[in-house]
Amino acid sequence: MPCPAMLLVVFSTVSVLHSARAQNEPRINASDHMVLSLESHSNPPIILQCNLTSASSNHKESYWMKNGEEIAGTRFKLKLTEYKLNKPRPDDAGEYMCVYTFEMAPDANATIEVKASPEITGHKRSDNKNEGQSALLYCKSVGYPHPVWTWRKLEGGILMDIENSSGRFFINNKDNYSELQITHLDIGTDPGEYRCNATNIIGTASMVCILRVRSHLAPLWPFLGVLAEIIILVIIIVIYEKRKRPDEVPDDDEPAGPMKTNSTNNHKDKNLRQRTTN
Ligand SMILES: *[C@@H]1O[C@H](CO)[C@@H](O)[C@H](O)[C@H]1NC(C)=O
Ligand SMILES: *[C@@H]1O[C@H](CO)[C@@H](O)[C@H](O)[C@H]1NC(C)=O
Ligand SMILES: *[C@@H]1O[C@H](CO)[C@@H](O)[C@H](O)[C@H]1NC(C)=O
Ligand SMILES: *[C@@H]1O[C@H](CO)[C@@H](O)[C@H](O)[C@H]1NC(C)=O
Ligand SMILES: *[C@@H]1O[C@H](CO)[C@@H](O)[C@H](O)[C@H]1NC(C)=O
Ligand SMILES: *[C@@H]1O[C@H](CO)[C@@H](O)[C@H](O)[C@H]1NC(C)=O
Repeated sequence: MPCPAMLLVVFSTVSVLHSARAQNEPRINASDHMVLSLESHSNPPIILQCNLTSASSNHKESYWMKNGEEIAGTRFKLKLTEYKLNKPRPDDAGEYMCVYTFEMAPDANATIEVKASPEITGHKRSDNKNEGQSALLYCKSVGYPHPVWTWRKLEGGILMDIENSSGRFFINNKDNYSELQITHLDIGTDPGEYRCNATNIIGTASMVCILRVRSHLAPLWPFLGVLAEIIILVIIIVIYEKRKRPDEVPDDDEPAGPMKTNSTNNHKDKNLRQRTTN
């Protein structure tokens, strides 16, 4: 069994090493996390600030990152560095980070979260498909943290949750994007109003996508229409011809023409004669 004194020595050495490392680690005093409340049209500018308050090694430069990517034009040799959002918009929400680089030590950083309620900035307004085909509806958002997405369908005035992989419904979420795929479209049950819902800890937003499903005969309709027109036309012509044929027999005979005019002339002559006799 190890003696208690030896354990104590080991423990205190570890804690001394630990505190020495902590002292050497650079310290950054950064702005607090914040929430963008974008109610009005002219939001006041927001300044994100980091201050390197202690470091064991000389620092080289500092820069800013947003959502894991360096923001161009932010590299300076400053201990106190600022990033200004002049006109904050929903897509300014995200995870900001100031990074300090050193001559003899690894980089140090601090994170400032700028949170905002989701806002849906793009969506499929409507999709028109034939029965049996697949439909794809989607919504895109800005805001931070990335929302939790759900899809619902309006059924008799009630929004019903759509379950992923419940046979024909597939939901695919990628941070600020969500899509709903519906396969083997059913003309009886699938058309209607679908609603994507994006919710994070700050707020919620939703948007409507309309799905229309046509009968699979639909592509044939123009052709069937023309065919129906031709058939009706043919029937009309046949009936017309059949009814008219007996009357038209003399008309078809060319020599009958002059005879007809003669008869009317004779008639006129008769009238004339009648008038003269009166
Ligand atoms: C950190 O910065 C805030 C203002 O941004 C200031 O009020 C606070 O005193 C600073 N703390 C230290 C330890 O420098
Ligand atoms: C930044 O840190 C330095 C050193 O700790 C301190 O003197 C200075 O007041 C700080 N500046 C701000 C704006 O917090
Ligand atoms: C930020 O610092 C952490 C350790 O504190 C490190 O794991 C991470 O890689 C750093 N990120 C960047 C972008 O420097
Ligand atoms: C969505 O997030 C990706 C990275 O996750 C980003 O590249 C893209 O710009 C974002 N789109 C919007 C509209 O915020
Ligand atoms: C839905 O299910 C598919 C597999 O069928 C999976 O790849 C996808 O990540 C699931 N989406 C959600 C939101 O659970
Ligand atoms: C989104 O769904 C959540 C959870 O059901 C609900 O509380 C919220 O009101 C919905 N958002 C909208 C805009 O309908």
